[in-house]
Amino acid sequence: MTKYLVAGGRRLSGTVQVHGAKNSVLPILAATLLSGGECVIENCPRLSDVAASIRILEHLGCQVVHRGGTVWVDASHPLRGDVPDELMREMRSSVIFLGAILARLGEGTISYPGGCELGPRPIDLHLKALRRLGAEVEERFGTLHCRTPVLTGCEIDLSIPSVGATENAILAACGARGTTTIVNAAREPEIVDLQRFLVTLGARVRGAGSSVITVEGGRPLHGGCFRVMGDRIVAATYLSAVAAAGGEAEISGVDYRHLATVTAALQEAGCRVSSEPDRIAIRAQGRLRGLRPIRTAPYPGFPTDAQAVLMAAMCTAEGATVFVENIFENRYRHVDELARMGADIRVEGRVAVVYGVPRLHGAPLHCTDLRGGAALAVAALGAEGESTISGLEHIRRGYEDLKGDLAALGADIRQTDT
Ligand code: EPZ
Repeated sequence: MTKYLVAGGRRLSGTVQVHGAKNSVLPILAATLLSGGECVIENCPRLSDVAASIRILEHLGCQVVHRGGTVWVDASHPLRGDVPDELMREMRSSVIFLGAILARLGEGTISYPGGCELGPRPIDLHLKALRRLGAEVEERFGTLHCRTPVLTGCEIDLSIPSVGATENAILAACGARGTTTIVNAAREPEIVDLQRFLVTLGARVRGAGSSVITVEGGRPLHGGCFRVMGDRIVAATYLSAVAAAGGEAEISGVDYRHLATVTAALQEAGCRVSSEPDRIAIRAQGRLRGLRPIRTAPYPGFPTDAQAVLMAAMCTAEGATVFVENIFENRYRHVDELARMGADIRVEGRVAVVYGVPRLHGAPLHCTDLRGGAALAVAALGAEGESTISGLEHIRRGYEDLKGDLAALGADIRQTDT
Protein backbone atom coordinates (compact mmCIF):
# COMPACT_ATOMS: atom_id res chain seq x y z
CA MET A 1 0.00 0.00 0.00
CA THR A 2 1.39 3.43 -0.91
CA LYS A 3 1.45 6.03 1.82
CA TYR A 4 2.69 9.54 2.31
CA LEU A 5 5.38 10.00 4.93
CA VAL A 6 5.27 13.55 6.28
CA ALA A 7 7.85 15.04 8.66
CA GLY A 8 6.04 17.97 10.22
CA GLY A 9 7.27 21.16 11.79
CA ARG A 10 8.98 22.71 8.78
CA ARG A 11 7.97 26.19 7.66
CA LEU A 12 6.90 26.38 4.04
CA SER A 13 8.12 28.75 1.37
CA GLY A 14 8.15 29.03 -2.38
CA THR A 15 5.64 29.21 -5.23
CA VAL A 16 3.29 26.65 -6.72
CA GLN A 17 0.83 26.78 -9.61
CA VAL A 18 -2.51 25.05 -9.18
CA HIS A 19 -3.83 22.77 -11.92
CA GLY A 20 -7.09 23.07 -13.81
CA ALA A 21 -10.30 22.84 -11.82
CA LYS A 22 -11.71 19.33 -11.35
CA ASN A 23 -15.24 20.64 -10.87
CA SER A 24 -15.02 22.65 -14.06
CA VAL A 25 -13.43 20.09 -16.36
CA LEU A 26 -15.85 17.27 -15.43
CA PRO A 27 -19.00 19.00 -16.74
CA ILE A 28 -16.98 20.40 -19.67
CA LEU A 29 -15.97 16.86 -20.68
CA ALA A 30 -19.63 15.85 -20.57
CA ALA A 31 -20.49 18.92 -22.65
CA THR A 32 -18.18 17.77 -25.48
CA LEU A 33 -20.95 15.30 -26.36
CA LEU A 34 -22.93 18.26 -27.65
CA SER A 35 -20.25 19.19 -30.16
CA GLY A 36 -20.32 17.99 -33.76
CA GLY A 37 -16.59 18.64 -34.08
CA GLU A 38 -13.35 18.33 -32.17
CA CYS A 39 -12.93 19.96 -28.76
CA VAL A 40 -9.48 20.81 -27.39
CA ILE A 41 -9.45 21.30 -23.62
CA GLU A 42 -6.31 22.84 -22.14
CA ASN A 43 -5.19 22.95 -18.51
CA CYS A 44 -6.99 19.65 -17.98
CA PRO A 45 -5.74 18.12 -14.73
CA ARG A 46 -4.50 14.51 -14.61
CA LEU A 47 -6.94 13.18 -11.99
CA SER A 48 -8.63 9.82 -11.54
CA ASP A 49 -12.06 11.50 -11.88
CA VAL A 50 -10.92 12.93 -15.24
CA ALA A 51 -9.71 9.51 -16.37
CA ALA A 52 -13.10 8.06 -15.36
CA SER A 53 -14.89 10.71 -17.42
CA ILE A 54 -12.70 9.95 -20.42
CA ARG A 55 -13.54 6.25 -20.09
CA ILE A 56 -17.22 7.15 -20.20
CA LEU A 57 -16.74 9.34 -23.30
CA GLU A 58 -14.84 6.54 -25.05
CA HIS A 59 -17.52 4.00 -24.10
CA LEU A 60 -20.13 6.31 -25.64
CA GLY A 61 -18.17 6.36 -28.90
CA CYS A 62 -15.99 9.47 -28.69
CA GLN A 63 -12.36 9.47 -29.69
CA VAL A 64 -10.29 10.94 -26.88
CA VAL A 65 -6.60 11.70 -26.50
CA HIS A 66 -5.22 12.97 -23.18
CA ARG A 67 -1.64 14.14 -23.51
CA GLY A 68 0.01 16.23 -20.83
CA GLY A 69 -2.46 18.89 -19.80
CA THR A 70 -4.54 18.79 -22.97
CA VAL A 71 -7.49 16.59 -23.95
CA TRP A 72 -8.77 16.21 -27.51
CA VAL A 73 -12.35 14.93 -27.81
CA ASP A 74 -13.94 14.06 -31.13
CA ALA A 75 -17.66 13.41 -30.62
CA SER A 76 -18.57 13.68 -34.29
CA HIS A 77 -19.18 9.94 -34.76
CA PRO A 78 -22.49 8.17 -33.97
CA LEU A 79 -22.72 7.68 -30.22
CA ARG A 80 -24.43 5.21 -27.89
CA GLY A 81 -26.37 6.44 -24.88
CA ASP A 82 -25.83 3.85 -22.17
CA VAL A 83 -23.25 4.16 -19.38
CA PRO A 84 -22.67 0.80 -17.67
CA ASP A 85 -22.75 0.48 -13.93
CA GLU A 86 -19.04 -0.14 -13.53
CA LEU A 87 -18.26 3.15 -15.23
CA MET A 88 -20.97 5.05 -13.36
CA ARG A 89 -19.66 3.83 -10.03
CA GLU A 90 -16.14 5.09 -10.70
CA MET A 91 -17.18 8.69 -10.19
CA ARG A 92 -19.94 10.14 -8.05
CA SER A 93 -20.64 13.01 -10.40
CA SER A 94 -21.07 10.86 -13.53
CA VAL A 95 -24.79 11.75 -13.48
CA ILE A 96 -23.64 14.98 -15.20
CA PHE A 97 -23.48 12.97 -18.47
CA LEU A 98 -27.25 12.42 -18.50
CA GLY A 99 -28.24 15.90 -19.66
CA ALA A 100 -25.69 15.88 -22.47
CA ILE A 101 -26.68 12.36 -23.61
CA LEU A 102 -30.35 13.36 -23.75
CA ALA A 103 -29.54 16.55 -25.65
CA ARG A 104 -27.43 14.64 -28.17
CA LEU A 105 -29.34 11.38 -28.56
CA GLY A 106 -32.79 11.85 -27.05
CA GLU A 107 -32.37 8.80 -24.88
CA GLY A 108 -29.93 7.36 -22.38
CA THR A 109 -29.48 4.72 -19.73
CA ILE A 110 -27.35 5.16 -16.66
CA SER A 111 -27.24 3.38 -13.34
CA TYR A 112 -28.23 5.27 -10.26
CA PRO A 113 -25.07 7.00 -9.01
CA GLY A 114 -24.54 5.84 -5.47
CA GLY A 115 -23.94 7.93 -2.43
CA CYS A 116 -20.38 8.61 -1.40
CA GLU A 117 -18.30 9.24 1.67
CA LEU A 118 -20.11 12.56 2.19
CA GLY A 119 -23.45 10.88 2.69
CA PRO A 120 -26.42 10.35 0.38
CA ARG A 121 -26.08 12.16 -2.93
CA PRO A 122 -29.66 12.48 -4.22
CA ILE A 123 -30.32 13.43 -7.85
CA ASP A 124 -34.01 14.30 -7.56
CA LEU A 125 -33.37 17.88 -8.72
CA HIS A 126 -31.47 16.60 -11.78
CA LEU A 127 -34.38 14.34 -12.75
CA LYS A 128 -36.99 17.02 -12.03
CA ALA A 129 -35.18 19.44 -14.35
CA LEU A 130 -34.90 16.86 -17.14
CA ARG A 131 -38.58 15.93 -16.77
CA ARG A 132 -39.53 19.60 -16.96
CA LEU A 133 -37.73 19.71 -20.32
CA GLY A 134 -39.80 16.76 -21.53
CA ALA A 135 -37.73 13.72 -20.66
CA GLU A 136 -39.45 10.52 -19.51
CA VAL A 137 -37.37 8.98 -16.75
CA GLU A 138 -38.04 5.45 -15.58
CA GLU A 139 -36.19 4.11 -12.55
CA ARG A 140 -35.88 0.31 -12.63
CA PHE A 141 -33.61 -1.86 -10.46
CA GLY A 142 -31.07 0.85 -9.87
CA THR A 143 -31.04 1.90 -13.53
CA LEU A 144 -32.43 5.09 -15.01
CA HIS A 145 -33.93 4.75 -18.48
CA CYS A 146 -34.45 8.19 -19.96
CA ARG A 147 -35.96 9.04 -23.26
CA THR A 148 -37.55 12.05 -24.84
CA PRO A 149 -39.30 12.51 -28.15
CA VAL A 150 -38.16 16.12 -28.00
CA LEU A 151 -36.74 18.47 -25.37
CA THR A 152 -38.65 21.73 -25.09
CA GLY A 153 -37.39 24.90 -23.48
CA CYS A 154 -39.15 25.93 -20.25
CA GLU A 155 -38.60 27.52 -16.87
CA ILE A 156 -36.82 25.30 -14.34
CA ASP A 157 -37.00 26.36 -10.69
CA LEU A 158 -34.42 24.62 -8.51
CA SER A 159 -35.41 24.29 -4.86
CA ILE A 160 -31.70 24.10 -3.96
CA PRO A 161 -28.98 25.87 -5.99
CA SER A 162 -27.50 22.46 -6.81
CA VAL A 163 -24.26 22.67 -8.82
CA GLY A 164 -24.80 19.37 -10.63
CA ALA A 165 -28.49 19.90 -11.29
CA THR A 166 -27.74 23.36 -12.71
CA GLU A 167 -25.10 21.87 -15.01
CA ASN A 168 -27.33 19.01 -16.14
CA ALA A 169 -30.16 21.46 -16.87
CA ILE A 170 -27.86 23.71 -18.93
CA LEU A 171 -26.57 20.78 -21.00
CA ALA A 172 -30.02 19.32 -21.64
CA ALA A 173 -31.40 22.80 -22.43
CA CYS A 174 -28.76 23.18 -25.16
CA GLY A 175 -30.58 20.37 -26.95
CA ALA A 176 -34.07 21.73 -26.28
CA ARG A 177 -36.15 23.66 -28.76
CA GLY A 178 -36.67 27.21 -27.57
CA THR A 179 -35.50 29.06 -24.50
CA THR A 180 -34.92 27.60 -21.04
CA THR A 181 -34.61 29.72 -17.91
CA ILE A 182 -33.03 28.13 -14.85
CA VAL A 183 -34.08 29.93 -11.67
CA ASN A 184 -32.20 29.61 -8.37
CA ALA A 185 -29.25 28.28 -10.35
CA ALA A 186 -25.98 27.59 -8.56
CA ARG A 187 -23.53 30.48 -8.95
CA GLU A 188 -20.21 28.62 -8.66
CA PRO A 189 -17.32 29.85 -10.87
CA GLU A 190 -17.17 26.38 -12.43
CA ILE A 191 -20.60 27.00 -13.93
CA VAL A 192 -19.34 30.25 -15.46
CA ASP A 193 -16.49 28.19 -16.96
CA LEU A 194 -19.02 25.72 -18.40
CA GLN A 195 -20.97 28.59 -19.93
CA ARG A 196 -17.78 30.00 -21.46
CA PHE A 197 -16.97 26.60 -22.95
CA LEU A 198 -20.46 26.17 -24.42
CA VAL A 199 -20.37 29.68 -25.91
CA THR A 200 -17.04 28.73 -27.52
CA LEU A 201 -18.93 25.89 -29.23
CA GLY A 202 -21.59 28.33 -30.49
CA ALA A 203 -24.21 27.86 -27.78
CA ARG A 204 -26.35 30.75 -26.54
CA VAL A 205 -26.01 30.53 -22.72
CA ARG A 206 -25.96 33.54 -20.46
CA GLY A 207 -26.35 34.47 -16.81
CA ALA A 208 -23.97 31.90 -15.29
CA GLY A 209 -22.62 33.26 -12.02
CA SER A 210 -26.05 34.67 -11.24
CA SER A 211 -29.13 32.84 -9.98
CA VAL A 212 -30.88 33.02 -13.37
CA ILE A 213 -29.37 31.28 -16.39
CA THR A 214 -30.90 31.43 -19.85
CA VAL A 215 -30.24 28.92 -22.65
CA GLU A 216 -31.43 29.34 -26.23
CA GLY A 217 -31.36 25.71 -27.27
CA GLY A 218 -31.57 23.74 -30.48
CA ARG A 219 -28.48 25.27 -32.08
CA PRO A 220 -25.95 22.90 -33.71
CA LEU A 221 -22.66 23.21 -31.84
CA HIS A 222 -19.24 23.07 -33.47
CA GLY A 223 -15.86 22.23 -31.96
CA GLY A 224 -13.55 24.62 -30.23
CA CYS A 225 -10.51 25.16 -28.00
CA PHE A 226 -10.85 26.11 -24.33
CA ARG A 227 -8.61 26.58 -21.28
CA VAL A 228 -10.05 25.40 -17.96
CA MET A 229 -9.96 27.75 -14.96
CA GLY A 230 -7.62 27.09 -12.02
CA ASP A 231 -8.83 24.93 -9.16
CA ARG A 232 -9.89 27.19 -6.27
CA ILE A 233 -10.14 24.30 -3.79
CA VAL A 234 -6.61 23.12 -4.53
CA ALA A 235 -5.52 26.74 -3.97
CA ALA A 236 -7.45 26.81 -0.67
CA THR A 237 -5.67 23.60 0.32
CA TYR A 238 -2.19 25.05 -0.26
CA LEU A 239 -3.05 28.32 1.51
CA SER A 240 -4.28 26.30 4.49
CA ALA A 241 -1.05 24.28 4.43
CA VAL A 242 1.04 27.45 4.79
CA ALA A 243 -1.29 28.68 7.54
CA ALA A 244 -0.88 25.38 9.40
CA ALA A 245 2.89 25.01 9.01
CA GLY A 246 3.87 28.69 9.00
CA GLY A 247 5.96 30.38 6.31
CA GLU A 248 5.19 32.30 3.17
CA ALA A 249 4.26 31.24 -0.33
CA GLU A 250 2.67 32.28 -3.57
CA ILE A 251 -0.13 30.25 -5.15
CA SER A 252 -0.61 31.00 -8.84
CA GLY A 253 -2.95 29.94 -11.63
CA VAL A 254 -6.17 30.79 -9.80
CA ASP A 255 -8.52 33.76 -9.76
CA TYR A 256 -8.25 35.16 -6.23
CA ARG A 257 -11.89 36.30 -6.38
CA HIS A 258 -12.99 32.65 -6.48
CA LEU A 259 -11.83 32.01 -2.94
CA ALA A 260 -12.45 35.36 -1.27
CA THR A 261 -14.24 33.76 1.71
CA VAL A 262 -11.27 31.45 2.31
CA THR A 263 -8.64 34.21 2.14
CA ALA A 264 -10.83 36.40 4.40
CA ALA A 265 -10.92 33.62 7.01
CA LEU A 266 -7.14 33.16 6.84
CA GLN A 267 -6.63 36.91 7.26
CA GLU A 268 -8.97 36.90 10.27
CA ALA A 269 -6.85 34.06 11.68
CA GLY A 270 -3.79 36.30 11.48
CA CYS A 271 -2.25 35.45 8.10
CA ARG A 272 -1.14 38.20 5.75
CA VAL A 273 -2.78 37.60 2.37
CA SER A 274 -2.32 39.69 -0.76
CA SER A 275 -3.91 38.99 -4.11
CA GLU A 276 -3.26 39.77 -7.74
CA PRO A 277 -5.50 38.74 -10.64
CA ASP A 278 -4.08 35.22 -10.97
CA ARG A 279 -2.08 34.63 -7.81
CA ILE A 280 -2.36 34.83 -4.04
CA ALA A 281 0.51 35.43 -1.61
CA ILE A 282 0.24 34.32 2.00
CA ARG A 283 2.47 34.79 5.03
CA ALA A 284 1.80 32.97 8.32
CA GLN A 285 3.86 33.94 11.33
CA GLY A 286 3.15 32.75 14.89
CA ARG A 287 0.04 31.04 16.19
CA LEU A 288 -3.26 31.51 14.36
CA ARG A 289 -6.26 33.03 16.10
CA GLY A 290 -9.65 31.30 16.39
CA LEU A 291 -12.34 32.48 13.95
CA ARG A 292 -15.90 33.63 14.07
CA PRO A 293 -18.16 30.71 12.99
CA ILE A 294 -17.47 29.29 9.53
CA ARG A 295 -20.75 28.34 7.86
CA THR A 296 -20.50 26.50 4.54
CA ALA A 297 -22.92 27.71 1.89
CA PRO A 298 -23.50 27.74 -1.85
CA TYR A 299 -21.22 30.13 -3.72
CA PRO A 300 -20.35 32.92 -2.98
CA GLY A 301 -20.56 31.60 0.59
CA PHE A 302 -17.77 29.64 2.24
CA PRO A 303 -17.15 26.53 0.08
CA THR A 304 -17.94 23.19 1.70
CA ASP A 305 -14.94 21.73 -0.16
CA ALA A 306 -12.58 24.00 1.82
CA GLN A 307 -14.10 23.21 5.24
CA ALA A 308 -11.81 20.29 6.05
CA VAL A 309 -8.53 21.92 5.03
CA LEU A 310 -9.28 25.12 6.94
CA MET A 311 -10.30 23.07 9.97
CA ALA A 312 -6.94 21.31 9.85
CA ALA A 313 -5.17 24.66 10.09
CA MET A 314 -7.41 25.87 12.92
CA CYS A 315 -6.66 22.85 15.16
CA THR A 316 -3.67 24.67 16.70
CA ALA A 317 -5.13 28.19 16.75
CA GLU A 318 -5.40 30.27 19.90
CA GLY A 319 -9.05 29.86 20.94
CA ALA A 320 -11.94 27.97 19.38
CA THR A 321 -13.51 27.98 15.92
CA VAL A 322 -17.05 26.76 15.19
CA PHE A 323 -17.76 25.14 11.81
CA VAL A 324 -21.29 24.61 10.52
CA GLU A 325 -21.48 22.22 7.53
CA ASN A 326 -24.71 23.12 5.76
CA ILE A 327 -24.22 21.33 2.43
CA PHE A 328 -23.44 17.67 3.14
CA GLU A 329 -24.65 15.43 5.94
CA ASN A 330 -21.46 13.57 6.62
CA ARG A 331 -18.52 15.83 5.98
CA TYR A 332 -16.68 15.56 9.32
CA ARG A 333 -15.13 12.15 8.79
CA HIS A 334 -11.66 13.72 8.95
CA VAL A 335 -12.31 14.77 12.59
CA ASP A 336 -11.53 11.35 14.06
CA GLU A 337 -8.24 11.27 12.15
CA LEU A 338 -7.32 14.76 13.33
CA ALA A 339 -8.12 13.66 16.90
CA ARG A 340 -5.47 10.94 16.57
CA MET A 341 -2.98 13.83 16.18
CA GLY A 342 -4.19 15.46 19.39
CA ALA A 343 -6.81 17.79 17.94
CA ASP A 344 -9.66 18.70 20.29
CA ILE A 345 -12.84 18.80 18.17
CA ARG A 346 -16.43 18.17 19.28
CA VAL A 347 -19.02 17.31 16.61
CA GLU A 348 -22.76 17.69 17.18
CA GLY A 349 -24.67 17.05 13.94
CA ARG A 350 -23.78 19.79 11.48
CA VAL A 351 -21.68 21.69 14.03
CA ALA A 352 -18.03 21.03 14.81
CA VAL A 353 -16.27 23.03 17.54
CA VAL A 354 -12.49 23.10 17.15
CA TYR A 355 -10.71 23.97 20.43
CA GLY A 356 -7.20 25.07 19.55
CA VAL A 357 -4.34 23.09 21.11
CA PRO A 358 -0.71 24.25 21.17
CA ARG A 359 0.64 21.56 18.82
CA LEU A 360 -0.50 18.45 16.98
CA HIS A 361 1.73 15.39 16.96
CA GLY A 362 2.34 13.07 14.03
CA ALA A 363 0.30 9.86 13.77
CA PRO A 364 -0.65 7.06 11.34
CA LEU A 365 -3.59 8.53 9.40
CA HIS A 366 -6.09 7.24 6.80
CA CYS A 367 -7.93 9.36 4.23
CA THR A 368 -11.71 9.18 4.53
CA ASP A 369 -12.61 11.20 1.42
CA LEU A 370 -11.03 13.60 -1.06
CA ARG A 371 -10.92 16.85 0.91
CA GLY A 372 -10.71 15.11 4.27
CA GLY A 373 -7.58 13.40 3.00
CA ALA A 374 -6.05 16.69 1.93
CA ALA A 375 -6.85 18.05 5.39
CA LEU A 376 -4.73 15.31 6.97
CA ALA A 377 -1.75 16.37 4.87
CA VAL A 378 -2.32 19.99 5.94
CA ALA A 379 -2.42 18.99 9.62
CA ALA A 380 0.63 16.72 9.29
CA LEU A 381 2.72 19.58 7.90
CA GLY A 382 2.16 21.62 11.05
CA ALA A 383 2.41 18.71 13.47
CA GLU A 384 5.44 17.77 15.55
CA GLY A 385 6.97 14.50 14.34
CA GLU A 386 6.17 12.11 11.56
CA SER A 387 2.79 11.14 10.10
CA THR A 388 1.88 8.46 7.59
CA ILE A 389 -1.16 8.94 5.36
CA SER A 390 -2.84 5.99 3.61
CA GLY A 391 -5.90 5.83 1.37
CA LEU A 392 -4.24 8.01 -1.26
CA GLU A 393 -6.75 6.95 -3.93
CA HIS A 394 -9.10 9.52 -2.43
CA ILE A 395 -6.54 12.29 -2.88
CA ARG A 396 -5.78 11.29 -6.46
CA ARG A 397 -9.39 12.08 -7.35
CA GLY A 398 -8.79 15.81 -6.93
CA TYR A 399 -5.07 16.55 -6.68
CA GLU A 400 -2.76 15.99 -9.62
CA ASP A 401 0.37 15.84 -7.46
CA LEU A 402 -0.27 16.86 -3.84
CA LYS A 403 3.07 15.44 -2.70
CA GLY A 404 5.02 17.21 -5.46
CA ASP A 405 3.31 20.55 -4.90
CA LEU A 406 3.80 20.49 -1.14
CA ALA A 407 7.44 19.44 -1.59
CA ALA A 408 7.86 22.42 -3.95
CA LEU A 409 6.82 24.55 -0.98
CA GLY A 410 9.52 22.98 1.15
CA ALA A 411 7.51 20.25 2.86
CA ASP A 412 9.29 17.04 3.86
CA ILE A 413 6.82 14.63 2.26
CA ARG A 414 7.69 11.32 0.62
CA GLN A 415 5.79 8.37 -0.73
CA THR A 416 6.47 4.87 0.58
CA ASP A 417 5.27 1.53 -0.73
CA THR A 418 4.94 -0.72 2.27
C1 EPZ B 1 -20.59 19.64 -6.59
O1 EPZ B 1 -21.24 18.47 -6.15
C2 EPZ B 1 -19.10 19.37 -6.47
N1 EPZ B 1 -18.73 18.25 -7.34
C3 EPZ B 1 -18.76 19.04 -5.03
O2 EPZ B 1 -17.35 18.87 -4.95
C4 EPZ B 1 -19.15 20.22 -4.15
O3 EPZ B 1 -18.89 19.90 -2.80
C5 EPZ B 1 -20.65 20.52 -4.34
O4 EPZ B 1 -20.93 20.76 -5.73
C6 EPZ B 1 -21.09 21.75 -3.55
O5 EPZ B 1 -20.35 22.85 -3.95
C7 EPZ B 1 -18.55 18.50 -8.66
O6 EPZ B 1 -18.73 19.61 -9.14
C8 EPZ B 1 -18.10 17.34 -9.49
P1 EPZ B 1 -24.80 19.89 -5.16
P2 EPZ B 1 -22.83 18.28 -6.41
O7 EPZ B 1 -25.73 19.25 -6.11
O8 EPZ B 1 -23.21 18.88 -7.70
C9 EPZ B 1 -28.33 18.30 -2.43
C10 EPZ B 1 -15.36 17.84 -4.32
O9 EPZ B 1 -14.86 17.69 -3.22
N2 EPZ B 1 -28.95 17.80 -3.66
O10 EPZ B 1 -24.55 21.36 -5.26
O11 EPZ B 1 -23.17 16.86 -6.18
C11 EPZ B 1 -27.05 17.55 -2.07
O12 EPZ B 1 -27.37 16.37 -1.35
C12 EPZ B 1 -16.84 17.59 -4.55
O13 EPZ B 1 -14.74 18.24 -5.34
C13 EPZ B 1 -30.24 17.27 -3.61
O14 EPZ B 1 -30.86 17.22 -2.55
O15 EPZ B 1 -23.39 19.15 -5.21
C14 EPZ B 1 -26.30 18.55 -1.24
O16 EPZ B 1 -26.77 18.50 0.08
C15 EPZ B 1 -17.47 17.01 -3.31
N3 EPZ B 1 -30.80 16.81 -4.75
C16 EPZ B 1 -26.70 19.90 -1.85
O17 EPZ B 1 -27.86 19.65 -2.64
C17 EPZ B 1 -30.14 16.86 -5.95
O18 EPZ B 1 -30.71 16.43 -6.97
C18 EPZ B 1 -25.66 20.52 -2.76
O19 EPZ B 1 -25.28 19.51 -3.68
C19 EPZ B 1 -28.84 17.38 -5.98
C20 EPZ B 1 -28.26 17.85 -4.83
